[in-house]
Amino acid sequence: MKTSQGAAALASHVETRGRVLASLASVVEQRVPGPMETRLAEIRSFLSDDLSAVERDLDGIQLGSTPMHESARHLLTLGGKRIRPMCVALASRIGGGFCQAARELAVASELVHNATLLHDDVVDMGDRRRGAPTSRILYGNAASIFAGDWLLVDALMRVRRAGMSDVLDRALGVLAEMLEAEALQLERRGRADVTLDQYMQVVRGKTASLFRWAMFAGGRAGELDEASCARLERFGEAMGVAFQVVDDALDAEGETDVIGKEALVDLREGKVTYPLMVALERDAELRSLLAEHLQSGAATLDDATAARAAQSIRASGGATEARALAQRLVDGAIEEISNLPDKPATHVLVAVAHAVVNRRN
Ligand code: IPE
Ligand code: IPE
Ligand code: MG
Ligand code: MG
Repeated sequence: MKTSQGAAALASHVETRGRVLASLASVVEQRVPGPMETRLAEIRSFLSDDLSAVERDLDGIQLGSTPMHESARHLLTLGGKRIRPMCVALASRIGGGFCQAARELAVASELVHNATLLHDDVVDMGDRRRGAPTSRILYGNAASIFAGDWLLVDALMRVRRAGMSDVLDRALGVLAEMLEAEALQLERRGRADVTLDQYMQVVRGKTASLFRWAMFAGGRAGELDEASCARLERFGEAMGVAFQVVDDALDAEGETDVIGKEALVDLREGKVTYPLMVALERDAELRSLLAEHLQSGAATLDDATAARAAQSIRASGGATEARALAQRLVDGAIEEISNLPDKPATHVLVAVAHAVVNRRN
């Protein structure tokens, strides 16, 4: 009885997995964006065992009750898209599977990400994240900075535990890259003369480097060969840049309720991102308005000017151009992994890349 129940459960699991894969494959073939929520839900269902293990580990982190711990707990328990752990899990499944080391690395990727969000909301004065007030609003800026540091240390200890010295070395390198990128972004804040090169440098460092690492770490945990890990890294880098370019479009076109964070923060904080660069090139009136504003010495924009810039980004096609750039990057990324083993996880990874371009939050 027990055995036949088990067999039935397994058969239904396999059938669900088959259905999910068939649906994802049709999206990839037809390149139909489709409702993103459905897409991501399908990807999550394919990875449900792995992601549940990641959630259990995140829940199991021993956090005390000081404002620092509460600050970290608040962000972690709100959950997010968990896209970086998905990357680690899929890369590992292209190889030997989601082993214990892959699990540690997947959790570490999410912790590093959450650490950067805690810091980022202090730097950007973000008030909302994941549909709730930010940790800094609830527990203060100082607690959020310490919480971010705490999560970084915890993440690095997990990477060390995974036992691959090159993966740890690269994690340290990624943290250094992220800092350099944040430093450059800070220096460029409130300046309309940011070049595309500088923008790309910031995006590669602050966002793509962690995606690159997640893909490499998963590939190594899955014992893929060096060439395959290098391909996964290039995939991660290109998809990571696309991810941030779309995030920058969402700042201008998204609605707070949908994106879970306040819109127009980049504009108000004087960040010149790709969608704004397009708008500045096409809208002379916006150019002189911003020049006038920035000449007065302000590094930030008032609400009315930020709203005017967002309207220009939409009207001039800045947000559409940003998604088109993201699509080109993702197409290149997919090309990179076309020679990897033809596993279900490889196809799901392609679906993740498409979802990154078409995401609404
Ligand atoms: C937001 O990342 C920060 C960026 C790098 C753009 P996510 O969009 O992955 O945030 P969560 O984890 O889903 O909240
Ligand atoms: C992403 O930049 C910063 C990190 C890599 C932490 P953003 O400032 O655009 O991220 P959001 O929009 O606040 O999530
Ligand atoms: Mg921010
Ligand atoms: Mg953003």
